[in-house]
Amino acid sequence: MLGIVLFLIILFVFLWKLTVEVKENSPPTFSGWIPIIGHLYKIIGGRERLSRTLFDLGEECERKGGVIGFYVGAQRHFVIVDPEDALTAANSSLSKHAIFKQAEPWLGNGLITSGATAFGINVDQDSEFCNKYIHACEKLIGIQTRKFQNIWLQSDLIYRLSGFKKKEDELIKYVHQLSNSIVQRKRMERKERHKEVKSATKMQSLIDLLLNLSGDQVFSQEDIREEIDTVIVAAFDTTSWSLTYALLVLGSMPEIQEKVAKEIEEVLGPTDRNLDKDDLQKLVYTEAMIKEVLRLYNVLPAVLRDITEKVQLKNYTMYPGDQCMILINNLNRHKAWGLDVEQFRPERWLGEAELPEHHSAYFATFGIGRRFCIGRIFAMYSMKTILVHILRRYSVKSDLAKLRLTSDYVTKPVSGHFITITRRINAVN
Ligand SMILES: *[C@@H]1O[C@H](CO)[C@@H](O)[C@H](O)[C@H]1NC(C)=O
Ligand SMILES: *[C@@H]1O[C@H](CO)[C@@H](O)[C@H](O)[C@H]1NC(C)=O
Ligand SMILES: *[C@@H]1O[C@H](CO)[C@@H](O)[C@H](O)[C@H]1NC(C)=O
Repeated sequence: MLGIVLFLIILFVFLWKLTVEVKENSPPTFSGWIPIIGHLYKIIGGRERLSRTLFDLGEECERKGGVIGFYVGAQRHFVIVDPEDALTAANSSLSKHAIFKQAEPWLGNGLITSGATAFGINVDQDSEFCNKYIHACEKLIGIQTRKFQNIWLQSDLIYRLSGFKKKEDELIKYVHQLSNSIVQRKRMERKERHKEVKSATKMQSLIDLLLNLSGDQVFSQEDIREEIDTVIVAAFDTTSWSLTYALLVLGSMPEIQEKVAKEIEEVLGPTDRNLDKDDLQKLVYTEAMIKEVLRLYNVLPAVLRDITEKVQLKNYTMYPGDQCMILINNLNRHKAWGLDVEQFRPERWLGEAELPEHHSAYFATFGIGRRFCIGRIFAMYSMKTILVHILRRYSVKSDLAKLRLTSDYVTKPVSGHFITITRRINAVN
């Protein structure tokens, strides 16, 4: 009896392994594979564990040539850190990864793109709205992270019974109400100033542009709300954490901070005036500094894609039904950056000569290939603007050596991220 059971188990495991690895041109498998559940156990158990697994994946992937297989149950994920393969994968597969489908009831089909809170509202006047909105979004992200990490919650029935579904629905409804109210108010405002002539240089908010399209019956009110929710959520965490990392870096590297402060003074003079587009372009060193922050402290750990057609990588083949995970951190720290790849050195961005050849594949913070982030330029502008406003009044101090990070959807500090600010002696008012 025992013999038969044992035989059946072995047969089952053998067949299972076959279903997983039989596909042609499979990459090496990530270590720790277990029959039936694959590597699932490596992503269950909280942020720290997920973070550890992401790190191990990157490290092992590099060691094994640039591409490995990671299995959630029988679901195969291609983990890629080879820059050429990463570009091929990013270019040929434009679908969103399954994770984003989870977010769909909330974001609709709006593109998940980093961008900016180009909402066109006054933050002071709408501070209550902003607080409520962001608070609700954070709760939603919390629930969805939980759903991702706890496979049983992905069963609709259990999800419903657990009470999370009800909570999620309530939050979604609330967020929609909030953004709808803004869309509606904007519509009214537009009607009122309908005849107003706008100056050509005035920057328009995203919502204004979208509303213009809705006038032409291109976008429905629902479409607009989706776009706005997506842009805000995508931009909120990414931009604010990137700024946090920028301040942490500046606080620990006084020489770099002084260089940035000096450039700001040179470009803007001893005034408190707002920046215009020309100023933004003149802040060359500041931009290089921000890029270096984005390279070494990228907020999103991976570019994720659903594979919908056969994709030929250098050594392996991805098939429809596979998932693909391009690890941003490993591209940003690829050896093509040179021996000082781990060093924070804004100067490397000041000339083409020091950048890796085809450096777009080695700087993946905004994604790579055809579907890189459409909010890239806006994100850069808003980060520069905020840094200018902070640094011309204050100097910052921090201790980067104490910084500890974890990653799930986004990379966040767990400790060592405190910043001291001091008013500059010669500060503008
Ligand atoms: C492809 O295979 C070669 C030879 O086995 C190996 O050196 C290389 O790292 C592999 N490249 C990728 C991206 O898998
Ligand atoms: C990917 O797309 C980008 C932008 O369209 C292009 O410059 C690049 O050559 C493409 N690379 C590959 C490997 O398809
Ligand atoms: C709206 O579209 C019209 C042309 O259809 C254009 O003249 C106008 O500048 C647009 N307004 C905004 C806010 O984009």
